[in-house]
Amino acid sequence: MPSTRNTLRAARRHCLFLAVAAPLVFVAGLLSVAPVAAAPPHAPKKFGEEYVGSQTCQTCHEDIWNNYQKSAHTFVETDERGGWKEHGCESCHGAGAKHAGTADAAEIRNPKKLVAEQTDKICLSCHLNTTKHSERIQSSHMKDTVSCVACHTIHANGPAGLVPRAASQVNALCTSCHQGVKAQFAKPFRHKVPENEMTCVDCHNPHGSLRPAMTQTFAANEPGCFKCHGDKRGPFTFEHAPVKFEGCNTCHEPHGSTNPRMLNRHEVRLNCLECHSNLPAVSASAVKNGGILPGSVPPAFHDLRSPRYQNCTVCHQKIHGSYADRNLLR
Ligand code: HEC
Ligand code: HEC
Ligand code: HEC
Ligand code: HEC
Ligand code: HEC
Ligand code: HEC
Ligand code: HEC
Ligand code: HEC
Ligand code: HEC
Ligand code: HEC
Repeated sequence: MPSTRNTLRAARRHCLFLAVAAPLVFVAGLLSVAPVAAAPPHAPKKFGEEYVGSQTCQTCHEDIWNNYQKSAHTFVETDERGGWKEHGCESCHGAGAKHAGTADAAEIRNPKKLVAEQTDKICLSCHLNTTKHSERIQSSHMKDTVSCVACHTIHANGPAGLVPRAASQVNALCTSCHQGVKAQFAKPFRHKVPENEMTCVDCHNPHGSLRPAMTQTFAANEPGCFKCHGDKRGPFTFEHAPVKFEGCNTCHEPHGSTNPRMLNRHEVRLNCLECHSNLPAVSASAVKNGGILPGSVPPAFHDLRSPRYQNCTVCHQKIHGSYADRNLLR
């Protein structure tokens, strides 16, 4: 549960949101014929009579009401200090007196029919900065058309419910939009996502993160890969610089690949020689550092025409870092 302080803070924000809707609600009030319950304590007093309370909604929306009784959001209904006691329905749907009188769909706010940004504002009026990490400041879901309710079905008691938790639900949800990624997981060398042995959320935070591609973080903002591949974490006595500084996807395709070990080149040596060769530099920063690629050139005894030297990791076994050898040989 978010702390009461958060809920309180959130309720105050919600009042700001209502202030924008004030003139509309006021006119609605003049026409209202519905029974009137006490206004929620944190709603501005002058709009108080526009609220009817959840009990009134129940009279016509019995199914949703019953469903709601089993949902996490009933907490709003009984929470003394959150500001929406007995007005849970209206915390998302806005003041409902007029609609309750006319039963006209046009008179009530349906968060799903708003543009994503407005829907999110309703949800974030309570869910911003909670301990649950749902804030979406760094998320490209936020920048587009994906709102909270694209992934969270508020009233469904269906298979996914309010929060998709089971691996199969999460993967089905994500791949319903990300068809291209689904195809990447059909490649021969891949993580076991299609089998639902792991999920997109093991590596991505759908709500956003400080790392590129919304990737999950782990202790001290490290990449989430370490959650399962802790042996690659180090610190090693002899680090392999790109593992430490550029991240796993420098050499691996995290979803799936046609190459063994999910490498992004079909032969290991091609991966290595992208950096360990004296080809001209490809990036501006490398040019500054002397104009050649970032890794050192393999010593001369490496005869790269000979198959013996082509499979680099036969000798450089500790490719992710070594405790014993600066050349990553053991
Ligand atoms: C007198 C009966 C009645 C009461 C009371 C009532 N509703 Fe409705 N509501 C309806 C009917 C009927 C519809 C369907 C209207 C339609 O489809 O044209 C509806 C539709 C809705 C919709 C869907 C609107 C849309 O655009 O999809 C929402 C949301 C809603 N009601 C919420 C509420 C809330 C919240 C309350 C309590 C504040 C409430 N209703 C009270 C009868 C009622
Ligand atoms: C946490 C926010 C939230 C709360 C609380 C809430 N609703 Fe909704 N409601 C929504 C959203 C979002 C939708 C759009 C459909 C969906 O995502 O489930 C919706 C849709 C509806 C609809 C349209 C029919 C449908 O299923 O699409 C009705 C009617 C409705 N709500 C009534 C109520 C009533 C009655 C209550 C109180 C018992 C209530 N809502 C509480 C967010 C909320
Ligand atoms: C009036 C405040 C309020 C509003 C508005 C609100 N929520 Fe909630 N929400 C809560 C509270 C309180 C809980 C229950 C406590 C908890 O489990 O975090 C909750 C629970 C949830 C959960 C379940 C968390 C869990 O761990 O099971 C989800 C998901 C959620 N809300 C999504 C939404 C979405 C999406 C919207 C917008 C359509 C929304 N909420 C609007 C207060 C609110
Ligand atoms: C792209 C899909 C997606 C979007 C968009 C999204 N969520 Fe979620 N959310 C999820 C998934 C999946 C989980 C379950 C995560 C897990 O199990 O770790 C979740 C979990 C949650 C939880 C429960 C957190 C917990 O740890 O128990 C809350 C609360 C929540 N989301 C709120 C929101 C709010 C508020 C928004 C909009 C600002 C939002 N979500 C947008 C997919 C989404
Ligand atoms: C309703 C459709 C929809 C759903 C469901 C959805 N996404 Fe997205 N996702 C998008 C859109 C739109 C974008 C932004 C455009 C893009 O980058 O492709 C996006 C972007 C992303 C990105 C790229 C972020 C970046 O900054 O490069 C990741 C990662 C992502 N989604 C993961 C997920 C995960 C994980 C889930 C399931 C929990 C999920 N998405 C569910 C539509 C969706
Ligand atoms: C093993 C960890 C892992 C899993 C599991 C995973 N991803 Fe990713 N994903 C990543 C990483 C790391 C990147 C960044 C790749 C890069 O920058 O080259 C990424 C990039 C993305 C992107 C943006 C770039 C692109 O390819 O369009 C999207 C969208 C995305 N993932 C969606 C998903 C979805 C949907 C799922 C589940 C079906 C999923 N991911 C499962 C690690 C993972
Ligand atoms: C939830 C745990 C989990 C996370 C998180 C995870 N992995 Fe994995 N990874 C696995 C498992 C389990 C396997 C073995 C899969 C198999 O046997 O098919 C694997 C296999 C691999 C392999 C291929 C190994 C081989 O022998 O072919 C690579 C490469 C890899 N992961 C890289 C990554 C990268 C990069 C990330 C972060 C973007 C990551 N993993 C995140 C669990 C995880
Ligand atoms: C410099 C390129 C490079 C980087 C960066 C890199 N790897 Fe690898 N990785 C490889 C190569 C090459 C192999 C195959 C080794 C072999 O041939 O046996 C491999 C194999 C693996 C394997 C399977 C075999 C094993 O050792 O368990 C896993 C899992 C793996 N890498 C995870 C990761 C993770 C997690 C990261 C990020 C922390 C990462 N890799 C970063 C090059 C790299
Ligand atoms: C993204 C660029 C990059 C890739 C790809 C890469 N390396 Fe490196 N490697 C470096 C950098 C940078 C260093 C440390 C600086 C240096 O070379 O002097 C380093 C260090 C090394 C060292 C330690 C010796 C030394 O010079 O400090 C060996 C051995 C090595 N790499 C082998 C490999 C092998 C084998 C592969 C392929 C599996 C590979 N590297 C892939 C960039 C890379
Ligand atoms: C047959 C074993 C073997 C193979 C295969 C091999 N190396 Fe080496 N490599 C070594 C040995 C041994 C050293 C250490 C030489 C020394 O001690 O000075 C070394 C050193 C290096 C260094 C360190 C150079 C320095 O300045 O310290 C780099 C970089 C390197 N190898 C890259 C590669 C690359 C890239 C490949 C694949 C194309 C590869 N190696 C294949 C055995 C091998």
